[in-house]
Amino acid sequence: MNRSLCSLFQGLLLLAALVLPAARAADTAPTHTVPDTLAQRIAACTACHGVHGEGTPDSGFFPRLAGKPAEYLARQLHYFQRGLRKYGPMEYTVRPLSDAYMHEIAEYFAQQEVPYTPSPTPKVSAALLARGQALTEQGDPSRKIPPCEACHGSQLTGVAPSTPGLVGLPYDYVSSQLGSWRTGTRAAAAPDCMATIANRLSPEDITAVSAWLATRQLPADMHAQPAGSVTPPLECGVLGNAPASAAPVKGDGA
Ligand code: HEC
Ligand code: HEC
Repeated sequence: MNRSLCSLFQGLLLLAALVLPAARAADTAPTHTVPDTLAQRIAACTACHGVHGEGTPDSGFFPRLAGKPAEYLARQLHYFQRGLRKYGPMEYTVRPLSDAYMHEIAEYFAQQEVPYTPSPTPKVSAALLARGQALTEQGDPSRKIPPCEACHGSQLTGVAPSTPGLVGLPYDYVSSQLGSWRTGTRAAAAPDCMATIANRLSPEDITAVSAWLATRQLPADMHAQPAGSVTPPLECGVLGNAPASAAPVKGDGA
C-alpha cells in the first residue's frame, strides 16, 4: 500500500476510533464526551494531508503542510473560513474551528519534519523551462514581474513568518494556485502582491514557472529563511510592509 493510502487509512481509523465510541456512548451514557486532544482535532485533516502533513505528492492535489511557517498556515485556515480561499471540503472542515484551535493546528504542522517526496515532473520544452528559470531568478522587468526568489528566498524554501517555500510543491498545485489568484478564488490581505504578480504572468508563464519549480532539486535544508532576510520588492498585506493608508504610497521598487 502506498504512503498516501496508508495515511488515509490511518486518518480514517483514528477518526472512527474517536467518533464511534462517542456516538455509541451518547445513546447510553450522556456523560461520555469525545476527548478534546490535538490528535482528535487533526484527525479531520490527516486523511487528505497525511498524519504529519506530508500531503499526497503523487496525486499533486492535497498540499503538504509539514514545515511551512506556522503563521502562514494559520492565515490560510482563516482565509478558508472567511471565503478568501475557496475549496469546499476545506471551507467545511475549518468552519467550526476557533482561532486558538487553528493556531494550535498550524503550530503542529509547522513543527513536523518529514522528508519531501519528489512529485512527477511535467514534460515541457527546454525553452519553457528556461523562461521559468528566468522568471524565478530575474523576473521580467519589462512586465514589472519581480523574481520569485526576491520574496520566497534564495533557496526558494520560504521566509519566516509568512512566506511559504516554492520548492517541493507539485506542478499541479503551484499552477492551480497561480490560476486561482488570477480568477479570484484565492486572495490574501491587500495589497495582494501575489494577485498582482499572477495577473502579470501569462498562462504560458504560469506553466513555465510551475514546471521549473517542480523540477528543482531539493536543498538539503528545507527550513524557511529567517525573518527579515529579504526585502520584498512589492508591498504585500500579509508581510506588513505596506504603508498605513494615510501614509504616502511607495512605488513598486521601494
Ligand atoms: C477533503 C480533503 C481535505 C481535508 C479533509 C482537509 N484539507 Fe486542507 N486542503 C485540501 C486541499 C485540496 C487544499 C488546496 C485547496 C486549494 O486549491 O486552495 C487544502 C489546503 C490547505 C491549506 C493551505 C495550504 C497552503 O500551503 O497554502 C491548509 C493550511 C490546510 N489545507 C489545512 C487543513 C487542516 C488544518 C485540515 C483539518 C482541520 C484540513 N486542511 C482538512 C484538502 C483537504
Ligand atoms: C513581493 C513578494 C513576492 C514575490 C516577488 C513573489 N511572491 Fe509568491 N507569495 C508571496 C507571499 C507573501 C505569499 C503568501 C500569500 C498568502 O499568505 O496567502 C506567496 C505565496 C505564493 C504561493 C502559494 C504557495 C502555497 O503553498 O500555497 C505561490 C504558488 C507563489 N507565491 C508563487 C510565486 C511565484 C511563482 C513567484 C514569481 C513569479 C512569486 N510567488 C513571487 C510573496 C511573493
